[in-house]
Amino acid sequence: MSSSKDYRFLKACRKEEVDCTPVWMMRQAGRYLKKYRDMRKKYSFLEMCKTPELAVEVTLMPFEEIDVDAAILFSDILIPVEAMGIDLEFVESKGPIMNNPVRTAGDIEKLRVIDPGEDVPFVMDSIKLLRKELEGKVPLIGFSGAPFTLASYMIEGGGSKNYLLTKQMMYNSPGSFNDLMNKITDTTIKYLNSQIEAGAQAVQVFDSWIGCLSSLDYDRYVMPHMKKLFGNLSKEVPAIHFGTGTSAILELLKEAGGHIIGVDWRINIDLAWERLGYDVGVQGNLESVVLYGPEGLIESRVKDILDRVGNRPGHIFNLGHGINPDTPVDKAKFMVDTVHRLSQR
Ligand code: CP3
Repeated sequence: MSSSKDYRFLKACRKEEVDCTPVWMMRQAGRYLKKYRDMRKKYSFLEMCKTPELAVEVTLMPFEEIDVDAAILFSDILIPVEAMGIDLEFVESKGPIMNNPVRTAGDIEKLRVIDPGEDVPFVMDSIKLLRKELEGKVPLIGFSGAPFTLASYMIEGGGSKNYLLTKQMMYNSPGSFNDLMNKITDTTIKYLNSQIEAGAQAVQVFDSWIGCLSSLDYDRYVMPHMKKLFGNLSKEVPAIHFGTGTSAILELLKEAGGHIIGVDWRINIDLAWERLGYDVGVQGNLESVVLYGPEGLIESRVKDILDRVGNRPGHIFNLGHGINPDTPVDKAKFMVDTVHRLSQR
């Protein structure tokens, strides 16, 4: 049994010495697990997110099956978006669809800043149940989407390749875009602080699609909201700030906030950390498709990342993005075991 002070994931978040490098995977609670696929035959994804007993069961799966060092709440970044007034659907093999996308000032006007305890109580209930289940085992990470990534879903009405509508609102109606970002930022601050109050021991902010912006646009349209977001988070727990395609704007992500910066697979982790500065921790950055390869490849890629980091305190091993739905489980487990074996202090 370890006390919450001794969890290696939280120690790494605080840049303390660890017995070996902690590792978890983004999207670790999901379809590459047979138990998850079996459960999905009975329930829809949103039903699973909104039923604490089911969300708890899925959250525990990766911890039980592959020995990761942290659990992340089973939910989705779009749950609070739905509560703000968006008609959300998850369409099989298409992903999330918003049936009333946000295109005009009037659409933004109609959106609500949520009251998490009233509007998404199941999230806090799941967290409370999970803390009991996980006591002495691993810490629990809460999360949210970042304002830009959530705004892009709301404006585009779903996933996007080029973010044309989002960027058009940004350039042609900057006041409206700013109003939308403000509402999402205020929602996100309340949402994350409620998760922390319910028991989340760290939080991660997913700015998954931020890499589509130039540094000029990040600075102008996104930075103030991110500073407000991180500046208003409860100081009791560490915050991880993650994005993909961020090699050109890493320094801006750090300036925006977060104790740990999540980096994708495109940049060597030692270079990313040198640019960020060693006063923040770093999480990442294994290419997730490597997990389909032979064990020799996985081991050499894990070793490469660990060698580049050289046991510097503040590293959390993770993939560069979410694990893919058909990744072989035995390879994911092999990766986790290899990180632990090769990083023994
Ligand atoms: O990390 C975890 O295991 C915790 C749970 C979690 C999910 N989504 C579960 C999920 C987290 C942290 C997310 C975050 C999320 N959701 C992000 C940011 C992370 C990233 O990958 O950058 C984004 C962009 C979303 C939006 C979203 N949700 C998409 C695009 C999709 C469809 C993708 C697909 O592969 O079908 C989802 C659905 C989703 N979220 C699933 C899971 C397990 C699959 C649902 C299913 O069909 O069973």
